[in-house]
Amino acid sequence: MNCNSTLTPLIPSRYPLIQAPMAGAQGSAMALAVCAAGGVGSLPAAMLSPEALQAELQVLRTQAAGPWNVNFFCHTPPQPDPAAESRWREALRPFYEEAGIDPARVPAGGGRVPFSRAVADIVEPFAPPVVSFHFGLPAPDLLARVKSWGSVVLSSATTVEEALWLQAHGVDAVIAQGLEAGGHRGMFLTSELGTQIGTFALLPQIVSAVKLPVIAAGGIADADGVRAAMALGAAGVQVGTAYLCCPEATTSALHRQALMSEAARHTELTTLFSGRPARGIVNRLMRELGPLHPAAPAFPMATAAVAPLRAHFEALGRTDCSPLWSGQNASGCRNAPAAEITAALARGFE
Ligand SMILES: Cc1cc2nc3c(=O)[nH]c(=O)nc-3n(C[C@H](O)[C@H](O)[C@H](O)COP(=O)(O)O)c2cc1C
Repeated sequence: MNCNSTLTPLIPSRYPLIQAPMAGAQGSAMALAVCAAGGVGSLPAAMLSPEALQAELQVLRTQAAGPWNVNFFCHTPPQPDPAAESRWREALRPFYEEAGIDPARVPAGGGRVPFSRAVADIVEPFAPPVVSFHFGLPAPDLLARVKSWGSVVLSSATTVEEALWLQAHGVDAVIAQGLEAGGHRGMFLTSELGTQIGTFALLPQIVSAVKLPVIAAGGIADADGVRAAMALGAAGVQVGTAYLCCPEATTSALHRQALMSEAARHTELTTLFSGRPARGIVNRLMRELGPLHPAAPAFPMATAAVAPLRAHFEALGRTDCSPLWSGQNASGCRNAPAAEITAALARGFE
């Protein structure tokens, strides 16, 4: 039974609305704007250097008008695997040839780091009001450290089993991430995509399975979507895609164009850009290789090999090899300030 029907006793913002952390698409500017508008702004930390993380946390601590969230990934980095790297480069060969790039000169690497003791050392002095995780939770001692700062801890569940696991391991609220959601699936107990279900199937099942507040994520793009999620028992919502075309986002011009075009009606889960399934607008690489290619190496190692291809085509004004992260419902994307998007979504709480 869900014994906490709203998020605000736990996270005292004006609205139980979290702007989803979106690594590579926004930083503190977006988070500050959402906090000022009464939502919970988020800082995605997965792709930040230690120095950048520290600087962004300083901005949030000194300028945020309300509770803010910092988000980390919890994956286990894979062992270097040269054979897997060369299979991946082989799969990409036609694209390298077209772009005139020598794959032997493309360095391997991931570019996304998990939460660790060293990261905790940076974060601790800032005692963030909220810390959220994707891909599970850090090791128990690290999680206990985060909780000792007084931070409210959230993590994404994509199945009822994951929600129960997160509850048993000490989260304060569960983010129910439906299949519609843009970006990476937070799945961590299974890699079986057949287990992944839509927000309106997942949310009520998690609400009845756990005793914690449940935050609905995936496909929510306007006040009606917020109302529908709250009617299904959500204690709050987390919205990502609808914020991607705000001036405060760092989304590229090509990505913005795609989000606001008919192309955004067709998204797929793909492993091509990182190695883990993530939802983005279908582009040429996804069409020609298939979105879930067997040679894509373990997360996050797929990224480096695609990076120069992405850069090559983007320089030509093309998105052939760009990750165009988007949820299934990009209808909320507008070139409007994050405060406006927040206010429009918040009407769903009236
Ligand atoms: C561009 C993009 C990047 C994302 N990056 C992250 C991330 O760094 N950490 C995280 O926990 N979730 C990330 N997500 C997933 C969101 O937390 C959330 O589940 C999703 O945006 C909700 O669905 P919606 O996009 O339909 O609103 C990302 C989503 C998008 C669209």
